[in-house]
Amino acid sequence: MSFRGKDVLCIMDFTRNDLERLFRIASSKFEGDELRGRVIAMAFFEPSTRTRLSFETATLRLGGGYIGFDAVQATSVAKGESFSDTIRMLDAYADAIVVRHSLEGAAKLAAELADSPVINAGDGSKRHPTQAMIDLYTIWKEKRGIDNLTYGVLGDLRYGRAAGSFLRALNIYSPKKVYLIAPESLRPREELLDSLKMSWEFADLSEVLPELDVLYVTRIQKERFPDPAEYERVKGSYRIDASLLRDAKSSMIILHPLPRVDEIALDVDSTPHALYFKQAANGIPLRMALLREVVP
Ligand code: NCD
Repeated sequence: MSFRGKDVLCIMDFTRNDLERLFRIASSKFEGDELRGRVIAMAFFEPSTRTRLSFETATLRLGGGYIGFDAVQATSVAKGESFSDTIRMLDAYADAIVVRHSLEGAAKLAAELADSPVINAGDGSKRHPTQAMIDLYTIWKEKRGIDNLTYGVLGDLRYGRAAGSFLRALNIYSPKKVYLIAPESLRPREELLDSLKMSWEFADLSEVLPELDVLYVTRIQKERFPDPAEYERVKGSYRIDASLLRDAKSSMIILHPLPRVDEIALDVDSTPHALYFKQAANGIPLRMALLREVVP
């Protein structure tokens, strides 16, 4: 399908063919000025480093310009302006709106209000479709495909939208097996578990590590815990270091959407397993490909 003018709200709205097309564009090292004369609004109601800066870089690399904010303190939201009014203004100024928000459904609401396409850059603890695209793109490049691999997804599978989007995204493919590795209180919500179509099971990392082709690690989402005491109970409960990886396949890759806190020790960075910085770098070509296809 053509993405021109379409909203990007959930990874499940994309087919294998759609994603394959994006991956091929992203890997073709294209340069262009497809966004010349276009303005993209970056509406970041919640903190971000990679997502915002890579959307900005992708826009600039395609010859476009951007406006926006990375903290609501500097906007009229701090004076009490509503989300809806802010989005309506951005819609009048820009050709597409990239939205990040702490509340689930914020991007969908923005899409209902705006005529311009809205790209969800992460809202609440559920959806982060462009991160999932980058994750899949990284695997597609490194493993020459996404099917028939054994995946371990480790960390905060309850509040982490990157892990949740990645798991939903694997539904589009045919993984051999998916192991969900999380402290009991950070296991996925029923709704996410019910949506998984592949063969999956809960597991301990040490037991399944030798089988894994891809290990996807996430941080504990401290800011999304309704109860700070619950965070205190689970913090620091898992950590990967180089000595642990002795049991892994030499070809196993470790992904992490970043930021990392303490869940991957620094000594992992210099192992051949560490793909997370490359994964972050892949955000530029992937988001360039997406903007090229979406912005009218
Ligand atoms: C993620 C996010 O914001 O959901 N970061 C990102 O976009 N790469 C993951 C996280 O914050 O842990």
